[in-house]
Amino acid sequence: MDKIVSLCKRRGFLFQSSEIYGGVQGFWDYGPLGVDLKRNLKEAWWQDMICGHNELKQPAGAPSTYEMVGLDCTIIMHPQVWKNSGHYDLFHDHMVDCRESKKRYRFDQVRGREVTYQDRTIFVSTLAEAEQEEDDIRRRGMKFFKLRNKDADKITVGGESITIDKLDNTDNVLGPDAKTLGTLTEPREFNLMFKTTLGALGGEDDVTFLRPETAQGIFVNFKNVLDSSRVKVPFGIGQVGKSFRNEITPRNFTFRSREFEQMEIEFFCQPDQSQDWYRYWRDRRMNWYLSLGMGSESLIMREHDPEELAHYSVGTADIEYAFPFLPPGEFGELEGIAHRGDFDLRSHMEGKLDPATNPMTVELNEHGKPKYRGSGKDLTYRDEATNQKFIPHVIEPSAGADRGVLAFLCEAYTEDQQPDEKGNLQTRTVMKLHPRLAPVKAAVFPLVKKDGMPEIAQDLYGELKKHFNVFYDDKGAVGRRYRRQDEAGTPYCITIDGDTVSDQTVTIRDRDSLEQIRVKLDDVVDTLTKKIDG
Ligand code: GAP
Repeated sequence: MDKIVSLCKRRGFLFQSSEIYGGVQGFWDYGPLGVDLKRNLKEAWWQDMICGHNELKQPAGAPSTYEMVGLDCTIIMHPQVWKNSGHYDLFHDHMVDCRESKKRYRFDQVRGREVTYQDRTIFVSTLAEAEQEEDDIRRRGMKFFKLRNKDADKITVGGESITIDKLDNTDNVLGPDAKTLGTLTEPREFNLMFKTTLGALGGEDDVTFLRPETAQGIFVNFKNVLDSSRVKVPFGIGQVGKSFRNEITPRNFTFRSREFEQMEIEFFCQPDQSQDWYRYWRDRRMNWYLSLGMGSESLIMREHDPEELAHYSVGTADIEYAFPFLPPGEFGELEGIAHRGDFDLRSHMEGKLDPATNPMTVELNEHGKPKYRGSGKDLTYRDEATNQKFIPHVIEPSAGADRGVLAFLCEAYTEDQQPDEKGNLQTRTVMKLHPRLAPVKAAVFPLVKKDGMPEIAQDLYGELKKHFNVFYDDKGAVGRRYRRQDEAGTPYCITIDGDTVSDQTVTIRDRDSLEQIRVKLDDVVDTLTKKIDG
């Protein structure tokens, strides 16, 4: 992981936000290469899921044809949205504060192990990454017991690491940044929504939130979309946009950020077909990642156990990726596909439903009135063919764009051995990004800066720029220019050499196979288009 983080900074994929001021935890900026990688991922999603979808053809595995449309909603919405969605009451994590270090941690994320010296056992906690966890615990345990390095074998570190929420109490716990025991407070609920104030007066009534998911904008516009676009159930609405969560312990590079982008679909269908649609979307989304070059051994589909599901849902599955910061064999969530029943549309219509009730009823306050008022708008759907009126059920494939970028960066990072100009094997770092995702599609090199080569190369570069993001490089040995493009993930390098001047052909070198083909100058655009679009 360290190598990937360092390459991302060195080559301009990702920077820490406000780095010159020491950075802000949980916020990341995309550099010149990163911005195009992320745009390409979002555009591939939009093209494949929304605007490229052919509603006249029944896709393999789909119960029927269906329509897809897009939406772009605001980040700040009416505060009632978050009350009825459940985020106001339920979107929280448990956190503990450290009285000594004044730091705050997520209760279920602080891991640790027992450390025993002579007849005393304490629990040493840490936030270190999996590979460094045992070393960090041992080091801090020795410091606590005031032992020197030569006495390292006098302490024993317990075998299995567990999170502190599994302990009966934290009296015997050495907090991740503490020097004394028992400094962690009891866990408390902490709402993850960022609060903000509307207008200049700033009273309690003006408080609202930055959206923690894009999904709610889709639900509250369900009727607008129905009335304005003639879509018929089954259909989906997609949205790509920023979401904000005040994560207590943002960590693992961009994996858990406080500002991030989501790519979400709310798919509305007949209740009795919802199970089939759930299965369709689950498989469709998994295959999408594979089609963009994700290795099948790096991805798993984890179906939630029936006990984890709300009773109104027939299924939820997470697509998980083997992020390198996790211990071997563990996977982290990349996307969730949830069957949400009619919970969201009914809550926005009638008032917040109590998910513990079956069948669900509106949650009441101590006066027996709805705890949160619904919009009162009719969000039912009338099927014109059957005249049947119903509240559609929803399947929600919800992906993170930043987490997607991180997973594709991790998957692409490769080191191999390749001969240099003198034939000596050298380690090459190459980002094997799928051509659709690669920020730069091709680099154009004149072999030398003379004999008419730069002029041809510049003309070709100008022509290619009309179609793709390309890069021009005439500096240094050609081998070194290749290496720089390999690190940036550029799939093709085009070299203009002595033969180009006489026969108007160029070489195109493939980043992964290193194969070189000779192509007529006039055919370069077509050849690249075919290679990139597959
Ligand atoms: N509307 C459903 C929803 O928001 P979620 O599982 O909370 O579901 C969906 O989020 C996806 O958004 C996750 O699978 C992940 O890719 C991304 N995501 C969630 N929280 C994130 C965070 N703090 N940082 C980066 N990505 C995040």
